[in-house]
Amino acid sequence: MTQHSDQRPTMSSRVIPVEPFDLVIFGGTGDLARRKILPGLFRRFCAGQMPPQARVIGAARTDMDTAGFRTMVAEAIKEFSGSYSFTQAKLDAFLARIEYLAIDARGEKGWAELAELMSDEGRVEAYYFSVSPALFGDLAERLQKWGMADASARIVVEKPFGRDLETARALNKTLATYFDESQIYRIDHYLGKETVQNLMAVRFGNMLFEPLWNAQYVDHIQITVAETVGVGGRGEYYDKSGAMRDMVQNHLMQLLCLIAMEPPARFDPDAVRDEKLKVIRALDPVLAHHIIRGQYQAEPMNEAEAPGYRTAVGDARSRTESFIALKTHISNWRWAGTPFYLRTGKRMEARSSEITVVFKETPHSIFSEDAGKHRNVLSIRLQPNEGITLGVTIKEPGPGGMRLIDVPLDMSFAEALEEGAESVDAYERLIMDVIRGNQTLFMRGDEVEAAWGWTDPIIEGWEARNDVPKPYESGSDGPTDSTELMRRDGREWRKVTA
Ligand code: BG6
Repeated sequence: MTQHSDQRPTMSSRVIPVEPFDLVIFGGTGDLARRKILPGLFRRFCAGQMPPQARVIGAARTDMDTAGFRTMVAEAIKEFSGSYSFTQAKLDAFLARIEYLAIDARGEKGWAELAELMSDEGRVEAYYFSVSPALFGDLAERLQKWGMADASARIVVEKPFGRDLETARALNKTLATYFDESQIYRIDHYLGKETVQNLMAVRFGNMLFEPLWNAQYVDHIQITVAETVGVGGRGEYYDKSGAMRDMVQNHLMQLLCLIAMEPPARFDPDAVRDEKLKVIRALDPVLAHHIIRGQYQAEPMNEAEAPGYRTAVGDARSRTESFIALKTHISNWRWAGTPFYLRTGKRMEARSSEITVVFKETPHSIFSEDAGKHRNVLSIRLQPNEGITLGVTIKEPGPGGMRLIDVPLDMSFAEALEEGAESVDAYERLIMDVIRGNQTLFMRGDEVEAAWGWTDPIIEGWEARNDVPKPYESGSDGPTDSTELMRRDGREWRKVTA
């Protein structure tokens, strides 16, 4: 389905400016702010979506003045904007919208000044909690104490949202003391990715797929999020989380929901989130022998730069997993009997996130030689090289009888939508949604709790068994047991390729 340039659809390229806003970033000097939030806002500013009157207020513990913060923001934008080209004039105009306040999340310092800054009426007020979750409650409480938690204020909360059901419930309860659910934006940045939303467009905007989207026609579904990076400098956090808490409970579960949910009646926040919640609640518990956990080993020739997991986290006996593969089922009418295989890991052979829907064989093959060999495979690539590939079976060209081969109908989004298509980072999109007051791509409190409700027994199970993760080679597709998990069922993982 690669399109010729004269057939490319015309983009509407509509950028609708959002209302004037004041966005306070708690943790404004932190890694996420520097890498994602501030460069993302800058791109929206350049695109004309961030109105010129909008203000971004960095708030953090560090003693610094606005000039110092602006210098830091400029450096972050230069460092993390990749190939994005901009002019100094644009950068200066953006920096003029930036302010800084040194604030103490647990004390009184800075709060009176912040309340004063935020006293302008008639602007959207958003507070981004880009800080340790231990401070979420303190921030919420102080916002209320200083009169900033009025009905129109919004808070944006980063993951991790709790580390199990109990802590997530407690956090929901704390936030609910100060804010209504409609004011709380729980970020899962996977929901802001272009192709993740495309999942919904493909499923619910086309007649072609939905009739086949069920256990009768689908053999199984695979979701892989493979990364080449290791834990890097995040060892301390990561070793307390592991792949299950860091990736599966949130990102992979969200993908699973979008691929498996019933069509919502409308594309509105609660209609979509109600359907996602039903999927999570219908998930079966996972059997112990359907879970494979792994830990990456050092690169043999490059141990100094690519240490093994245990060295990277500084614990020679760590039992935390950097890889997980599991098989689960969704017990409802649509999916009963269809296995879902989920897999994610660090230091794998390629960076690739992909959802693969493998259809069943035709009920009867009229081409006897090829009986049972061919299946349609729909693969949705989230990153890199976003696109959709549908494997179809055709006749092998040439004489010599009726031999069948599988060929891909390939639709690379970058190629199909080249002109006018604008790539928008997940954070840019999500922050603009906060300002617009659209919660569709944010997790609701009950969704997060249900997700922990499913993952908790899995984690408790391996803790009770004293499970030790299997070592796997850096640059591989995980432990061999993961391959076996599929082979036992007569199936194969799709190859992880960039
Ligand atoms: C984060 C995890 O939520 O997602 C990281 O904490 C992971 O461990 C990252 O590397 C992956 O995000 P992306 O957008 O690079 O796929």
